[in-house]
Amino acid sequence: MPDDKRIEAESRWELLAKTGADTPMGQLLRRYWWPIAGASELDTSPTKPVRLLGEDLVLYKDLSGGYGLLDRHCRHRRADMTYGYVESCGLRCNYHGWLYGADGRCLEQPYEDMAHPEAHFKDEVRIKAYPVEERCGMLWAYLGPEPRPLVPNWEFFTWKNGFRQIVTAEIRCNWFQCQENSIDPVHFEWTHSNWSVRLKGNTGPYSPKHVKIDFTEFEYGFQYKRIRQDTSDEDGLWTIGRVCLWPNALFTGDHCEFRVPIDDENTLSITIHFARVPREREPYVQGRIPTWHGPINDPATGRWITTHVMNQDFVAWVGQGEIADRSKELLAPSDRGIVMARRRFLSDLEALENGKDPKAIVRDATINERIVLPVAERHTLIEGRTRAEYLKDPLARRALQGYVFQAGQPPEVRDEFLAAMGFNGMEIDAATRRD
Ligand code: FES
Ligand SMILES: [Fe+2]
Repeated sequence: MPDDKRIEAESRWELLAKTGADTPMGQLLRRYWWPIAGASELDTSPTKPVRLLGEDLVLYKDLSGGYGLLDRHCRHRRADMTYGYVESCGLRCNYHGWLYGADGRCLEQPYEDMAHPEAHFKDEVRIKAYPVEERCGMLWAYLGPEPRPLVPNWEFFTWKNGFRQIVTAEIRCNWFQCQENSIDPVHFEWTHSNWSVRLKGNTGPYSPKHVKIDFTEFEYGFQYKRIRQDTSDEDGLWTIGRVCLWPNALFTGDHCEFRVPIDDENTLSITIHFARVPREREPYVQGRIPTWHGPINDPATGRWITTHVMNQDFVAWVGQGEIADRSKELLAPSDRGIVMARRRFLSDLEALENGKDPKAIVRDATINERIVLPVAERHTLIEGRTRAEYLKDPLARRALQGYVFQAGQPPEVRDEFLAAMGFNGMEIDAATRRD
């Protein structure tokens, strides 16, 4: 490649990976709402340190139930606001007691208010503050300019009769290579199907190969579609496929994996999983959506955990390097979706420069009542199935045996899940043995 072309390509890759507020992509990404925590994480401690897009912040829930996201460091002398205490309205620094509201205004300066009330010093003080909203048990933050868009109300947030759980992990690499995995059908065959067989010490057989893939863009992302040796062009995996949800997620129907930039070298993976309860369990209304944090490496061996589906993905992502060096890639026809996604971001950078909204910004409240997405297993997820049908389906039964996507599900979450589904471990084991 001639030198000037190489420099152009390298700077384009750097452009796509950088997320700081002073970078073009950082500006673009700040136009979207980002999930940063499960609301249930604040049940045990009302503050949580959050690093998002390279900014150090503290998330809190005050005594009135209001959420806020403030600078991690107090505006006074920079004490860590994570150790502040929540009040009926806002968060108070534990050092000299300055109190801040969710809009960043300083509401109290105890000593100054007492000794120099006439100075009204607090009226001049603002701490960095960003809006937070709760949707479907997750807390969402917006770091961009006003007018802010709406937090998208994806239809799977509205599905009824399901048990949801939120699962987080911190991945030591740039968010963009994680998101590229959201439009990469062929990896499933090798990273999950074939590798899982070999991780169990077996050597084969190979799973059915992909024979055809396709990618189509729609308003809220891209669909990727596949035909494998064991499926046809009538299968939902081809007619509907899976969704690379814009700009930051993979949506498969029963779960949605968001890739959230902590900074340029770290990503928060935050997944919301939906398990439709059997029809006999209806109506089922979940009280609180549990959130748990999954480990990614095994302290006994120092190696990455490889037992679960997303852990296998994490291994691939971190293996690409802190920030994948795209100048050394050799793209192939299977990567067409990735090229489409990169081009969309690059053209949206131009759109932003021209004062336009980038892709998938939602501002219309009527549209946001429920944004319908392509879902291959729509009927099963919405209408559900009977207990007997559950136990008959090997994939559903596997999901009943344990959470398949990430290692480390706490036993109490598994118990809540089984109680919601109306199964006990013995029944599932018996059904599995009948196979
Ligand atoms: S450092 Fe926070 S009030 Fe002084
Ligand atoms: Fe995967």
